[in-house]
Amino acid sequence: MFKTLEEINSRPAPFEFYTAADLWTNEHTAQQMLQYHLNDYIEASSRNSTFIEKSCNWIADQFNIKGKKVIDFGCGPGLYATRLARKGALVTGIDFSENSISYARTAAKKEGLSIDYLVSDYLEFETTEKFDLITMIMCDFCALSPTQRKALLGKFKAILKPEGAVLMDVYSLNAFEKKSESATYEKNQLFGFWDPNDYFAFVNTFKYEDEKVLLDKYTIIEANQPIRVVYNWLQHFSFDALQAEFKQSGLVMKERLGNVAGEELWPGQDEFAVIAGH
Ligand SMILES: C[S@@+](CC[C@H](N)C(=O)[O-])C[C@H]1O[C@@H](n2cnc3c(N)ncnc32)[C@H](O)[C@@H]1O
Repeated sequence: MFKTLEEINSRPAPFEFYTAADLWTNEHTAQQMLQYHLNDYIEASSRNSTFIEKSCNWIADQFNIKGKKVIDFGCGPGLYATRLARKGALVTGIDFSENSISYARTAAKKEGLSIDYLVSDYLEFETTEKFDLITMIMCDFCALSPTQRKALLGKFKAILKPEGAVLMDVYSLNAFEKKSESATYEKNQLFGFWDPNDYFAFVNTFKYEDEKVLLDKYTIIEANQPIRVVYNWLQHFSFDALQAEFKQSGLVMKERLGNVAGEELWPGQDEFAVIAGH
């Protein structure tokens, strides 16, 4: 018991473990996540539909997407992809959650929209196609290690047309400052999010001051099951740090925005968005 508690409370090195698939593709949590995506009152997986509508209207105008090739990395149930396709974009959506992609495909079929949905880990994704616009929305870039981010930005550069753009949002240093370390446990934490059976969830939040990384480490303990540990890493960025990552991958950060709906930056915001290109 003491040893287990020590393991639960142990601090890994930044980005030591990558368990995103456990969170998003586990049969039970994938269904919970889909419900979060579709719930306008829970902004854990997607933002609310009013924001998404506004964002897609802005994206359509800003990038003149009619007839253009758009690829959405981590598209989830296609909340952006569907709207962008309705506006005439030729959309590809990529996500490793079969559950979300299945929802997205059904939604597209209902409307007669032709969207190319791929069930794939975007870190493994390869294509020779080129795109006018690459999107990665809801700060998913922040879940990746520096090595993964570098590889992904290299991929973006390779598949981006010469005049194309990358649109993404990230967590700011302001959000990092607001967070503090904690350790809690709760029976059936998040109302059964982790499993249909009873469980205890230990949640350890660690801050890595030098790297500006936050970790929510979830240790899930059920009767007669192996212990599950899910690591939710959140890299937080200054403009300069993000700019440097783009530069290292041969891309240029061209515009800083308040969000992916094109609003201006405001002081003290927890997230910001950027447009990058060649
Ligand atoms: C925070 S959600 C955002 C979904 C969508 N962009 C939105 O805003 O509605 C992150 C999405 O990325 C997907 N995802 C995370 N890591 C992934 C990976 N390595 N490969 C493919 N999809 C991934 C998840 O399944 C999830 O659908």
